[in-house]
Amino acid sequence: MKKMMIAGNWKMHNDNAQALQLANQIKIKTTAVKATEIVICPPYTALSVVNDVVKGSNVVLGAQNMFWEAQGAYTGEVSAAMLQSCGVQYVILGHSERRQYFGETDETVNKRLRAVLENGLKAIVCVGETLEEREAGRAREVIDSQVSGAFAGIEAAAFSSIVVAYEPVWAIGTGKTASPDQAQEIHAHIRGQIEKQYGHDVAMALRILYGGSVKPANARELLSRPDLDGALVGGACLKAETFVPIIQTAEELAG
Ligand code: 13P
Repeated sequence: MKKMMIAGNWKMHNDNAQALQLANQIKIKTTAVKATEIVICPPYTALSVVNDVVKGSNVVLGAQNMFWEAQGAYTGEVSAAMLQSCGVQYVILGHSERRQYFGETDETVNKRLRAVLENGLKAIVCVGETLEEREAGRAREVIDSQVSGAFAGIEAAAFSSIVVAYEPVWAIGTGKTASPDQAQEIHAHIRGQIEKQYGHDVAMALRILYGGSVKPANARELLSRPDLDGALVGGACLKAETFVPIIQTAEELAG
């Protein structure tokens, strides 16, 4: 049985004191969680501090990006081994903010993904269309090319270490959530594309998270949809009072 995943992308929030406090609250309030995988992705600077808090608990550590080279003269970048030395298990790749502000492309997402997999880490690969693309009726086409670009040359066996996150750009940080129907439609489409290329078993086992203004008030109706296997949460993950209820909703739906 695949577990639902609730992942929190802290983005560029929380210094180490704040990170320590938030991680601690999340850990304490989720000790009874069994059926849901909880991942938190602090900024690089807080990874070690947060790892000290969550190691051995229900909360798994993720990073927000990673460079594909093992080491070298790449000012400002971090490698897989560096992340692993901080206790990281998951790496978010291809987030729309990286695509929009930092020149991330499907090709660089693919390079990062290969490095993540080669190093025994797991990836949360983000895809999603902009409002302009959706309004032009191109949402599926855009997502198809992001999916095929990210997974170019990736073998079926690697999918046990891959999670996909569908994050429509127009729903991120806007308070404008995709409706459960809109999310379900795209999730089913992504799963269908994966099935065509990698077969039924890989597609069924793949977790596809939804991201974009997920909060306690809309988590249940989103996560009830058959192809939504969890959520990648931004704003609402910055407070235990809003993040933990989303985890509890997933847990209730699993039970
Ligand atoms: P919000 O939940 O703030 O819309 O952010 C979603 C997101 O980008 C998670 O990666």
